[in-house]
Amino acid sequence: MSDTSPVVGAQRTARLVGDVSASRPVYRAVADALRVAVADGRVPLGSRLPSERELTTALGVSRTTVSRAYDLLREGGYLVSRRGSGSVVTLPEGSRHRGTSSLFGSEPLEDVIDLTCAATRAPVGVVEAYERAVAALPRYLTGAGYLALGVPELREAIAGRYTARGLPTGPEDVVVTSGALAGISLVTSALVGHGDRVVVENPGYPNTLDVLRRAGARLVALPVDPEGWDVAESVATVRSAAAGVAVLVPDFQNPTAALLSDEGRERLAAALRRAGTTPVIDETIVEIDLEGGSMPLPFAAHAPGAITVGSASKSHWGGLRTGWLRAPNGRVAHLVESRASSNLGPPVLEQLVLLELMRAAPGITEGRRADVRGARSSLVAALAEHLPDVSFTLGRGGLSLWCQLPADLPSTRLAVAAEDHGLLLAAGPRFAVDGGLDRWLRLPHVLPGGAMADAVVRLARAAEQVRSERGRIAPARRSRPGGALIA
Ligand SMILES: Cc1ncc(COP(=O)(O)O)c(C=O)c1O
Repeated sequence: MSDTSPVVGAQRTARLVGDVSASRPVYRAVADALRVAVADGRVPLGSRLPSERELTTALGVSRTTVSRAYDLLREGGYLVSRRGSGSVVTLPEGSRHRGTSSLFGSEPLEDVIDLTCAATRAPVGVVEAYERAVAALPRYLTGAGYLALGVPELREAIAGRYTARGLPTGPEDVVVTSGALAGISLVTSALVGHGDRVVVENPGYPNTLDVLRRAGARLVALPVDPEGWDVAESVATVRSAAAGVAVLVPDFQNPTAALLSDEGRERLAAALRRAGTTPVIDETIVEIDLEGGSMPLPFAAHAPGAITVGSASKSHWGGLRTGWLRAPNGRVAHLVESRASSNLGPPVLEQLVLLELMRAAPGITEGRRADVRGARSSLVAALAEHLPDVSFTLGRGGLSLWCQLPADLPSTRLAVAAEDHGLLLAAGPRFAVDGGLDRWLRLPHVLPGGAMADAVVRLARAAEQVRSERGRIAPARRSRPGGALIA
């Protein structure tokens, strides 16, 4: 810990804190927001927070507020202040992992419900699919196993799925990736330069926002309400942004679960075309239609220049770490070239497993649809019983409810308190492009009904705790605060 510690600037810190003006006490809200930002990795361990004076100015609050917030963080073991070194971020004694969730693959904590991840367990039949894939593997063993574009039969199956959805596609338009996020990273490295403007949804999928931020993109927020996109406003945002790229999730958007209509797609696609903006369409959740029936056409059917990112993570299983990109003529080669410096393609076996699973069911099975629907019903019923002042819009699909919280229950404080009750949550600000969203909480419905109900009971206890707390910061009792990586 020294003056060489990286510094988190006052403006960035203020953005991470967001608007705390309505919270009481304000210092507590500032401390909680920073604590969660440390836990989920947005503020790196060992970095230096701005001085109290700088943060006071950036937040527009009183100096006492910032002093008391920093005091709370010091008491909680999140900050060490040394003369000459400023206030350096650390973790409380006994925190084995920082910001871990199940995505870090650590052994599950006993009696902890992890709702940081909007992904379900593997469906029935994965073991059998692996067995069939192993049987098919010898055909590939005579080659080197470097298939830059992916296993040809899988590319064909993926192309066939697009064609069946109304978007004629050949295997030459498809490249297999190690999941959708890898696809987003690949497109980012190929198309986004430092300082480039990129349109993104707000709220949006945190890991994608992080990929773009790390590439130095300037993010332009396109608001998505719980009911979906205000298309006229979105068109205006696209026009004024004149960005190189727009990353959109029109199918059961994460976190709102909103679905963009065909008409919305058409109008937004036209606006992007006029603005010279390449649409990058993330379809990771497209299969999680809980009603069935016809879906809007793929966005790329309205935008022939679009690059589409897909994944097996939600339709089949996240553990396959397999996804793909669909890019129009000739673009695939360019994208693959930009990947070569970091990644030479995903493993053959998992591609064969996905091929087997897709042959059995190209998308989500009826059984799985029923499970997710059942989980959502349990969540909705438990919220009505235990937290009736939490509101949400129930859409046609997706894996989470985007919940609006009452004013006295800021999401960040609720997430901090929930840890004490064995519940890991991703607070609203984690989904924000420029801070804020502390009145919102994403609740994934991905666990069996009983566990969903138990989670809400824990959430209600956490809410009680938040409402009864008086400016105290709870010591970290759990070894791992949730939400560093979010699915
Ligand atoms: C919108 C969105 N994009 C990408 C991902 C990551 O997908 P993958 O597991 O295929 O990398 C997720 C996972 O939750 C997601 O919701």
